[in-house]
Amino acid sequence: MTTTTDRDPAGPTGPGDGGFVAPSNEDARERLRMPMVDAMRTQRAVRRLHTDPVDLDLVYELLELSLKAPTSSNTQDWVYMVVTGREQKERLARLYLPLFRTFDPLVRRGAKTEQERRAMAPGIWQAEHFADIPVFVIPCYRTGMKHRSVGWPQISVSSFYGSVYPAVQNLLLACRAVGLGASLQTLPIWLTPVASRILGLPKGLRPVCVIPIGWAKGRYGPTTRRPIDEVVHIDRYGNQPARTPAAPA
Ligand SMILES: Cc1cc2nc3c(=O)[nH]c(=O)nc-3n(C[C@H](O)[C@H](O)[C@H](O)COP(=O)(O)O)c2cc1C
Repeated sequence: MTTTTDRDPAGPTGPGDGGFVAPSNEDARERLRMPMVDAMRTQRAVRRLHTDPVDLDLVYELLELSLKAPTSSNTQDWVYMVVTGREQKERLARLYLPLFRTFDPLVRRGAKTEQERRAMAPGIWQAEHFADIPVFVIPCYRTGMKHRSVGWPQISVSSFYGSVYPAVQNLLLACRAVGLGASLQTLPIWLTPVASRILGLPKGLRPVCVIPIGWAKGRYGPTTRRPIDEVVHIDRYGNQPARTPAAPA
């Protein structure tokens, strides 16, 4: 679970906004040619979405791209649950909303400035309109001796989640390129057994996170990340570079 901290200069808007025209799949495909560096620099959590449907053929194409990711021992034991049915979305919303209402005040209390509090608006919008979001992708992975969602040894747990998140990041980048808003969320399935039951998952298949997807709405500013010279240590912990290396063109 993490916070909802989009910058949201567009201000609050409601669902079912008229006038929005989604790009054709052909246009969207063309957008996938965006330079990789641009996609990586501008990809971020986009939580306020148009509620217009998203063509599933396009979603499948993006999912196919996402699956170019590595997995531990090349197991590829993924399952992507794609949720678009109203009833299922309402079940997920009923699961999520109480969790959001429990955690949101804690996050709100942690917000230091008015700007930080305002930046939480897209997360609130999303929680309140969860069932209106066009598509949810819920990546799941099969557990086994080498891939454990919890427990020991750490390498098995690392191999489990590490076999999912590279594909998730691919999907987020592909969504960014075509103009779909998406974000990685774990709080909606905090009650994992209930989420599994809703999705009818067989034993041994675990949901890892939820990616709500729709055409992006509003403007989002750039991401803020810690500078590289704060993050990098050379050879031994504590030996940090004196200055930030030049960013790649
Ligand atoms: C493992 C993980 C779990 C996350 N869970 C949630 C979540 O439950 N709800 C949510 O709104 N965002 C969640 N996020 C998204 C982060 O809050 C978001 O990536 C971060 O605030 C940076 O946002 P930005 O890319 O827009 O700068 C999660 C991200 C990660 C990597």
